[in-house]
Amino acid sequence: MELLAFESLLARNKDWAAQKLHTDPQYFDNLAKDQKPEFLWIGCSDSRVPVEEITQSPPGSIFTHRNIANMVVHTDLNVMSVLQYAVEVLQINHIIVCGHYGCGGVKAALQSQDRGLVNKWIRNIKEVYYKNREELEAISDENLRFDRLVELNVEDQVYNLAETSIVQKAWKMRDFDIHGWVFDFRNGQIKDLNIRIQKSEDLHPIFRYSY
Ligand code: CO
Repeated sequence: MELLAFESLLARNKDWAAQKLHTDPQYFDNLAKDQKPEFLWIGCSDSRVPVEEITQSPPGSIFTHRNIANMVVHTDLNVMSVLQYAVEVLQINHIIVCGHYGCGGVKAALQSQDRGLVNKWIRNIKEVYYKNREELEAISDENLRFDRLVELNVEDQVYNLAETSIVQKAWKMRDFDIHGWVFDFRNGQIKDLNIRIQKSEDLHPIFRYSY
């Protein structure tokens, strides 16, 4: 009998668990003990960017938050809670914001269609466009302009992270990095945008907290 789509997920899970046990009888005992991830990954919900697969990372190594267009919005309790837990409790050493070319959320920001509630989310990307409109409007090729907005959006989220009190407070105690990356599913590779913000002093004074 053919399995329904969701049933095949459960069946594949059973196979996976059996394979893991077969290779390492202690696999799940070890997994259940604790998590000590070194990375916080903030990525897009897009199903074509499977974090562990594209970075060949085992379970337990990446603490993950995904939303539409990998946004860091200061009023979003979800991302802020993930950030606080990752920085203060898990003591992660690297935060990675990973966008991707061809992002539907970023594309929606370039369009004028009313999409209902999601307008509120997409609005943040429109602000990124507006901040960088001179650079973007100088790019005549529509696809290249779209690619560039994806990159600028990642850069903006890196700054949004650095501008939180959570990150700035942690910087007073230890060094950790925030990286801006873009995944390209046209070739499977991740591009490092080489954004370097490592201390509060790298930010405009209006965004600095005094500790
Ligand atoms: Co996306």
